[in-house]
Amino acid sequence: MEVFRRSQEPITISGIDFDGTSGWIQGGVSNKIVVKKFNASLLSPLVSIYENERPVDWSKQFGRKGPMIVEIGSGLGEFIVHRAEQFPKQNFVGIEYDWPRVYKTLRRISRFNIKNVRLLNVDARVVFERLFLPVTIDSVVALFPCPWPKRSHIKHRLFNREFLQLINSRLADHGELKIVTDFYPYLEWISDEIPAQAFRYSERKIPPQFDTKFERRWQGQGQNEFWELLLTKQSSVAIPLKEDIILKEFSISHFNAQSLTLVDEKKDAVILFKEHFFDSRKSRAMIHAIVVEKNLTQHFWIAVVKQSDHWMIRPLEGCLFIPTPGIQRALELVREQSSIS
Ligand SMILES: C[S@@+](CC[C@H](N)C(=O)[O-])C[C@H]1O[C@@H](n2cnc3c(N)ncnc32)[C@H](O)[C@@H]1O
Repeated sequence: MEVFRRSQEPITISGIDFDGTSGWIQGGVSNKIVVKKFNASLLSPLVSIYENERPVDWSKQFGRKGPMIVEIGSGLGEFIVHRAEQFPKQNFVGIEYDWPRVYKTLRRISRFNIKNVRLLNVDARVVFERLFLPVTIDSVVALFPCPWPKRSHIKHRLFNREFLQLINSRLADHGELKIVTDFYPYLEWISDEIPAQAFRYSERKIPPQFDTKFERRWQGQGQNEFWELLLTKQSSVAIPLKEDIILKEFSISHFNAQSLTLVDEKKDAVILFKEHFFDSRKSRAMIHAIVVEKNLTQHFWIAVVKQSDHWMIRPLEGCLFIPTPGIQRALELVREQSSIS
């Protein structure tokens, strides 16, 4: 099999091995990528954004209906596991985009034999946009969200007006959002971001009480007061579910992998073409693209496959992705640029 990097310098794939719990892939001279070993039995509380219907049917995930409690940035899972143990009739969803922290939470869930927690290893904004229907969540909590204290980093703060509106739209009537911070200026900043009329809100000083990694960290540094901001939904902001699009596949009459040069595009969606492979035995090319859209970055593989008298451009079978306008654009770019080469 031939592989073409951006430089068109061929490398050879010498091995792929995956036994369901661990594996490795090796390409080129020394670029061995080790896939971290994991214990597959721990993974059952994980909800895949790709392999489930969007929005997720949460009653099906939990095997029952129940009050929905969502934690944003669940970290090592101390809070969500403790609450789930205290309130076994409630359904808890933890959202955490750092995989090592999710993994530690999975171990904690298993250790305490907790059945009413599900975890998502995805950006919380994508989860609220695509996985929860409007007016379905009873309560949202975020403990010690990253405060981005530097002025130049304020743009990274998660709880801006746009996200507060999105959370409002997904909360049930009178649902609550609780944010606890160690950094009072962040609370003040969030208060200014609250969309008019959407929430009633109150703040109060609170002592340490959650025993999470970050609470312990600040306590260890001598901080014994934190601030809680409680927002109660007062009127509804209407933000519809962001839905998958139906992808169009393309047919082209000629395709030449040897002369194919793929040029990136940086518009509403940023499309970066990485390596491509050509399997001459199967008359099939596979192209790796990174598609960056608002809050969502996807690694996407495109197949160009020979049919009797034409070539089809379509998503590679088995590739997990959310069909979005950026994904559609990546397919279009392959069509456009294949006809030039
Ligand atoms: C400062 S830590 C606090 C973690 C935990 N709540 C605690 O008290 O120890 C903030 C957490 O939020 C996660 N996080 C930040 N932005 C996120 C986002 N957009 N989606 C999901 N998780 C996010 C980070 O990975 C990190 O684990």
